[in-house]
Amino acid sequence: MAADVSRRGAAHGGGALRLPPLRTVRVRRARPADAEAIRAIHLAAFPTDAEAWLVERLRAKGRLCLSLVAQVGRGIAGHVAFSRVRGGAAGLGLAPLAVAPAWQRRGIGGRLVRDGLALCARMGYRYAVVLGDPAYYRRFGFVPGTRYGLANEYGAGDPFMVIALAPDGLPRPGTLVRFGLEFAAAVRREGRGR
Ligand SMILES: CC(C)(COP(=O)(O)OP(=O)(O)OC[C@H]1O[C@@H](n2cnc3c(N)ncnc32)[C@H](O)[C@@H]1OP(=O)(O)O)[C@@H](O)C(=O)NCCC(=O)NCCS
Repeated sequence: MAADVSRRGAAHGGGALRLPPLRTVRVRRARPADAEAIRAIHLAAFPTDAEAWLVERLRAKGRLCLSLVAQVGRGIAGHVAFSRVRGGAAGLGLAPLAVAPAWQRRGIGGRLVRDGLALCARMGYRYAVVLGDPAYYRRFGFVPGTRYGLANEYGAGDPFMVIALAPDGLPRPGTLVRFGLEFAAAVRREGRGR
């Protein structure tokens, strides 16, 4: 999934026009009635249905610790999910994150990440990880996990990023951080969907 981010990041380059940030975005917890809109956003934002499927699996298994939507008017423009990872103290994986193509580059993804991390910290989680484009996630304070001697089950280098949500919140160096089983299934699904 990290590869997708890089590809899309490149597509974002080239000095495209920067739209003004929206003032009317409301980030709130997802409700059951949002499920279809969330699915539609992931299907529109990603090349395969792997991320839409992942959200539904995590929800069905009760593994969504935090699921936030960005509401614009009456519609939903973006979604982010957080679920538990194993490794050290209570940590969360940020994934997936998507903003509907028509609403991208207006600060909605940033709002979802920042508000999400702040809520996770308030909920008592100690750290968060993500597998994504370092160029995007470093602006939120994520740094490569390797900097703190952390490993991940996918063997990802710099795209495996971590952020502490509490003082001394990061796992000890040498810790292998593992995402839920649903993630490996989603990666396999993504491979089949290309
Ligand atoms: C990545 C994504 C969520 C960002 O949401 P957004 O609302 O467009 O982002 P924001 O408006 O908050 O931030 C825009 C900035 O992020 C950068 N950016 C957006 N997507 C990026 C990407 N995939 N890689 C690197 N940078 C990216 C833009 O270039 C812009 O940079 P600037 O502020 O220097 O001009 C959105 O583009 C998306 O849904 N992409 C497809 C799905 C995806 O790749 N999700 C991430 C999976 S880990």
